[in-house]
Amino acid sequence: MSPLTARPLGPQLVLAGSVGKDVDVLVIGLTSSSDSPEIALAGGVVDEAVLTDLLDTLVAVGATGKAEETTRIPSPATLPVGSVLAIGLGSAENLDAEQIRRSAGAAARSLGGVDTVATTLSVLDLGAAAEGFSLGAYRFAEFKSAKSAPGPDAKPVSRVELMVSAPRTGDAKKTLARSSAIAEAVAIAREFVNTPPSHLFPAEFADRAKVLGIDAGLKVEVLDEKALENGGYGGILGVGKGSSRPPRLVRLSYSAKKRNAPKVALVGKGITFDTGGISIKPAAGMENMTSDMGGAAAVVATVVLAAKLGLPVDVTATVPMAENMPSATAQRPGDVLTQYGGTTVEVINTDAEGRLILADAIVRACEDNPDYLIDTATLTGAQVVALGTRTPGVMGTDEFRDRIAAISQRIGENAWAMPMPAELRSDLDSKVADLANVTNHRWGGMLSAALYLKEFVADGVQWAHIDVAGPAYNSSGPWGYTGRGGTGVPVRTMISVIEDIAANG
Ligand code: BES
Ligand code: ZN
Ligand code: MN
Repeated sequence: MSPLTARPLGPQLVLAGSVGKDVDVLVIGLTSSSDSPEIALAGGVVDEAVLTDLLDTLVAVGATGKAEETTRIPSPATLPVGSVLAIGLGSAENLDAEQIRRSAGAAARSLGGVDTVATTLSVLDLGAAAEGFSLGAYRFAEFKSAKSAPGPDAKPVSRVELMVSAPRTGDAKKTLARSSAIAEAVAIAREFVNTPPSHLFPAEFADRAKVLGIDAGLKVEVLDEKALENGGYGGILGVGKGSSRPPRLVRLSYSAKKRNAPKVALVGKGITFDTGGISIKPAAGMENMTSDMGGAAAVVATVVLAAKLGLPVDVTATVPMAENMPSATAQRPGDVLTQYGGTTVEVINTDAEGRLILADAIVRACEDNPDYLIDTATLTGAQVVALGTRTPGVMGTDEFRDRIAAISQRIGENAWAMPMPAELRSDLDSKVADLANVTNHRWGGMLSAALYLKEFVADGVQWAHIDVAGPAYNSSGPWGYTGRGGTGVPVRTMISVIEDIAANG
């Protein structure tokens, strides 16, 4: 069950050595080639003669194996299942884990109303198949009352039997446990993003993060508005002061069993709604700003996941939460605030609020002397202009930035390294304070935001900033394992980076 809602966040995932007897649909992979499609290696879990039979039928109905193509056919009498779904995997030469994940997700999305499926995609890559099915089956219908609740044919798959040739091995069990935990963490991040701003405001977000943290055995600290005042968190307070719902700073710490483990700090932008403040945004599309806590959602889910996986790395998430509203108490363009740690800032544009709350959190996170610091945020529209809706931009210290981009591309979230051009820095100079929160031009907006954050990162910390303004939220149609709404990006990147740090320092 979800710690956030009273429902499971994904299907039950189990290992199997052959097609079980209560299976409604068998899902097989189909690769494309120039002459005719082929069934992707089914590794002995399904009889060869049955596969030949299936392929004949699939070719007869025009299946091509094109990526994410779905073809549903009746089951041959020799198979104890209701029907067979062939899911396209694209060309066999280009087949990688991410394609398997996406195809598994597309299969899961197409199987509304089906209770139990078995699949051979797990023979190709158990972890990718498990993650894809689980994430593809995720639904958010919390606010659908009986009047418009999805019918039984939209009910997500409830059980997935992942077939592998050796289901009882420790390796298979370990891989499945890891992938189940990852899929659950991504779903937790999605759940936070999908919860509307009416229901998820800073205090509520903090409470839910606290419950998750306590359940996972983390050390939890929540600073309310009084504590923020006493602590000197001028950025978080400045952004939050236009709202009747006061800001919070949440800290969730996981300590590895191992002594002297590497230390990773995570920081995530938690704007539960971004109107722009007095520098108010246009009405069209403003509802998408419910996703402006996507970074915070991802870091909360990731620190909880690191604990569940028991990784030999100390991880602390420092999560500023505020609602950016225009009101009689809101900060004004031209106001000067003092960030935690003493840097003064001229707030020229109240819509550049993310960097103000992040700067406080970064300074606080650096007080723990982390080896690595990853911050992630739906920070700039410029990210979407530069890289589109599916490619996060990553900036930071050169080596760590490139390491994160490489890992993110390997696991399919595809973050791309971006520069922090030195000449943009002076455009953040202010006439009245130490810094201005924006430049006076539009050029390189994602990069100047990163340069702003860089001012607050302690010397010697390996740092990366991941801008997920587009990738955290899918406001168009579903694709692969990604439905509409919160995507959970970059949870999988961050956990893979932490695992890489565990393995290589
Ligand atoms: N939350 C927005 C960025 C954003 C844009 C997220 C689109 C997701 C989709 C951020 O707070 C913002 O308003 N940024 C401004 C910065 C500007 C004022 C320098 C922007 O990008 O326009
Ligand atoms: Zn914002
Ligand atoms: Mn904004």
